[in-house]
Amino acid sequence: MFEGAAVPGPRQLKLMPSFAGDLPDPMHSHEDVLVRVTGEDVVAVRNAVADVKAIALKAGWTVRWGIDGFRSENRVEGGRGLARNPFHFTEGFGNPASEREVADRALVREGQGEPDWAVGGSYQVVRVVRFATELWDKDSVGEQERIMGRRRDGKWLDGAPVGEEPNFAADPRGRQTPLDSHVRLAAPDRRNPPLLVRRSYSYDRGNGDTGIIFFCLQRDLAKGFEAVQKRLEGEALAKYVLTTGGGYFSCPPARRRLDRRPQLEVVRERGWHGGALRRQQGL
Ligand code: HEM
Repeated sequence: MFEGAAVPGPRQLKLMPSFAGDLPDPMHSHEDVLVRVTGEDVVAVRNAVADVKAIALKAGWTVRWGIDGFRSENRVEGGRGLARNPFHFTEGFGNPASEREVADRALVREGQGEPDWAVGGSYQVVRVVRFATELWDKDSVGEQERIMGRRRDGKWLDGAPVGEEPNFAADPRGRQTPLDSHVRLAAPDRRNPPLLVRRSYSYDRGNGDTGIIFFCLQRDLAKGFEAVQKRLEGEALAKYVLTTGGGYFSCPPARRRLDRRPQLEVVRERGWHGGALRRQQGL
């Protein structure tokens, strides 16, 4: 996309590599442009998607792949967006609660070697992760919680409440929170949290093909997603998940401030984007 362009492209942008255990389907990976349409009204979202596709086709683009997602029990608590995934766990607790911390982890800064136009934008990672839900549901809830390293409702296994930090240092052998559990590997140093902000959606394409569309934003791909993904190699959860698609994308800076629920708010506040785009394109 940036080849031959008059402005320099984002410095870190590259094809998403295949990580240990991935089985990427080339028909559902990478591509030049990612359009993510979200909202609370299914019909409005579908209309917006149809409009975006029509505009893309009219402009001579090819729509290569897409996937529908949803967020069960979608809500905001303590400043964080939460939702329940198909493994019955609530996700979102580990995200920062304040807008300043979200920006600190997610937004490209001046002085980090990126082109001027990219400052204030972000790098977005998408991973389509299929879940072995039947296998998972054979495990007891206690076993599932030891694999994730948190209770289904977010409480810590050492008894710390949701909004507080666990004491991993007091549990060096992982008797309470196993060393190969998801959260212990993802965020081992509680004073230096991972430099990314996550927001995932569930998907269900029928015939048992269910899972999550994992999204995260970070200002630095290597220090954000890639650092965490490498630490997760060999995690107990690996047996139940298979990444089948996704990619790396660069997000230009938004005119509005980035916020924990940027897409939701843009769609709700301005009607659906597709409508404005359609009028602009005379469709
Ligand atoms: C494969 C499917 C995945 C599932 C089912 C899953 C599920 C969860 C759950 C339930 C939590 C605890 C609640 C929370 O803090 O949100 C969590 C935390 C987290 N996950 Fe994942 N996750 C998945 C993939 C990933 C990936 C691919 C990454 C990044 C490479 C990642 C990074 C994190 C981080 C950084 C935390 C927060 C840890 C903390 O601060 O305590 N997860 N995940």
